[in-house]
Amino acid sequence: MPTVDTSLYGLSSEEAAFFKAQIGIDDDEDLKRHILEVQTKAYKIAPYPCIHRYNFLRMNMSRYPVYEHILKLGRERSDAVLLDLGCCFGVDARKAAADGFPAKNIIASDIKNEFLELSHELFRTTPTSYPGCLLPGDVFDPAFLSIAARPNDICSALAIDLSSLKSLNPLHGRISAINATSLFHIFTEDKQLHLARALAGLLSAQPGSVICGSQVGSLEKGMAATVWGPEHRLFVHSPKSWTSLWDGEVFEKGSVKVETELVKHVIRGVEFFTMGWSVVRL
Ligand SMILES: C[S@@+](CC[C@H](N)C(=O)[O-])C[C@H]1O[C@@H](n2cnc3c(N)ncnc32)[C@H](O)[C@@H]1O
Repeated sequence: MPTVDTSLYGLSSEEAAFFKAQIGIDDDEDLKRHILEVQTKAYKIAPYPCIHRYNFLRMNMSRYPVYEHILKLGRERSDAVLLDLGCCFGVDARKAAADGFPAKNIIASDIKNEFLELSHELFRTTPTSYPGCLLPGDVFDPAFLSIAARPNDICSALAIDLSSLKSLNPLHGRISAINATSLFHIFTEDKQLHLARALAGLLSAQPGSVICGSQVGSLEKGMAATVWGPEHRLFVHSPKSWTSLWDGEVFEKGSVKVETELVKHVIRGVEFFTMGWSVVRL
């Protein structure tokens, strides 16, 4: 893996305004120094491309077409819970909280507890000052997230004390919105299907409940090159295979609306696609 490359650091004016307001640093150079310090620590824990390329600064969920819908669920469904899964520093969760989704109803979860601790370091918060729930766990450990039958009845999340959660299993059928940004493409085809089924079991049966994300995609499903070069390959879905996975395989056909958007990029001469998507219960 390449070493940390600070020349890749950069913030749009919107991102700079968000991090300055959230962290409480006004000066651009001070902000950069602070973010680089946290990034360097995180990269030593796990050298993910999203950390190397500063993708964690991008507030990805806020750019999805379903974002306003998610914020509306937070405002209008009294018990709406948002889960940011594979969250790294949980920047998407913090952005949603800043945009009005009740922070106490947001769970940010990652396999690396160190990333969750670094979330507090990045945002200069403590478990007292930030009421969101930070929950470590492995999405493939059934003691943390098992595959449940998709519920048809509506269960409230209000009955659950999020601050005492040790796993996601008590939330089967109770989550209104799930964000899984840059998560699925880390795993093999079989594991991607397993994860999709597990997320479906968490989702509330209420119409409008949503799962969204983005990941490396392709025109045809199969193995694809990444920004690291042709020797680093991932299993990726196409819009067609991703849509039929959710609508027909994971959920009963016709019970969800799936939207995808495939975007082409060329980085260091390597052409690749990212795919943004959402699955909304009808
Ligand atoms: C590529 S990063 C994406 C981070 C963040 N969602 C973003 O968009 O910036 C993938 C994250 O998934 C987490 N992860 C990897 N395997 C996991 C697992 N089995 N269970 C839960 N989280 C996992 C990693 O620790 C990492 O933080």
